[in-house]
Amino acid sequence: MAASLRRLLCLRSALLLLLFLCASPLTRTGAEDSEDCGDLRLGQYLCKDPKINETTQEPENCRDGKASVDCLPAPNVTCRLANGTEVRFSGEEVGFNRTIACRNVTGYSYKVAVALSLFLGWLGADRFYLGYPALGLLKFCTVGFCGIGTLVDFILIAMQIVGPADGSSYIVDYYGARLTRLSINNETFRKPHLSL
Ligand SMILES: *[C@@H]1O[C@H](CO)[C@@H](O)[C@H](O)[C@H]1NC(C)=O
Ligand SMILES: *[C@@H]1O[C@H](CO)[C@@H](O)[C@H](O)[C@H]1NC(C)=O
Ligand SMILES: *[C@@H]1O[C@H](CO)[C@@H](O)[C@H](O)[C@H]1NC(C)=O
Ligand SMILES: *[C@@H]1O[C@H](CO)[C@@H](O)[C@H](O)[C@H]1NC(C)=O
Ligand SMILES: *[C@@H]1O[C@H](CO)[C@@H](O)[C@H](O)[C@H]1NC(C)=O
Repeated sequence: MAASLRRLLCLRSALLLLLFLCASPLTRTGAEDSEDCGDLRLGQYLCKDPKINETTQEPENCRDGKASVDCLPAPNVTCRLANGTEVRFSGEEVGFNRTIACRNVTGYSYKVAVALSLFLGWLGADRFYLGYPALGLLKFCTVGFCGIGTLVDFILIAMQIVGPADGSSYIVDYYGARLTRLSINNETFRKPHLSL
């Protein structure tokens, strides 16, 4: 009885030793292996809000629908900068840049377009403002297609379905009531799971 108990204890300590030997290299590499700062996981960094241009209400460095913001790794996070230097961050230094989407605007204001459509839509002023002179003239001559066209145009402009003729976006307050169209991409795609 005592012998079998001793054997059991021996087996247990051997197992524990094995477990320790197996686990320690893993934990050590986990701490030493530093990754690229751009590969940090959510919660290990904080990206600043972009600097907004008062005039355009878009990030100041917006080019071709993209702007970059500075991201600060959390205190005591170690990662590699783009030039390969390994840094232990204090929470104040910039570790990497992240690209965010922005919109190209050329100066057409959403508020002005909606106001023109609401009050002077029957004269076609909204269409003239947005750069559709032919449609504006048609609305002007027919007094807004007898009212129906005025209403339809107002809805189209208010819903931001009709935008400026040059293909740019309306100027809308950056932290205001913006319309975002949702689409399916790799980030929003819902993977179908096998039913149980
Ligand atoms: C804001 O945007 C306008 C129009 O593009 C530009 O003229 C102006 O210089 C910008 N201001 C700043 C501070 O970047
Ligand atoms: C970062 O590490 C230092 C030293 O190891 C420690 O004194 C400090 O409290 C840590 N800071 C945070 C925010 O964990
Ligand atoms: C990498 O960049 C950081 C900050 O931009 C700088 O302090 C460091 O000296 C650079 N390292 C090399 C090897 O260029
Ligand atoms: C981040 O972008 C700024 C310009 O916006 C640039 O000067 C800087 O080098 C970039 N930093 C990294 C790590 O890419
Ligand atoms: C989505 O991910 C697949 C592979 O995972 C890649 O081939 C494709 O280019 C990605 N599409 C976009 C729009 O990022």
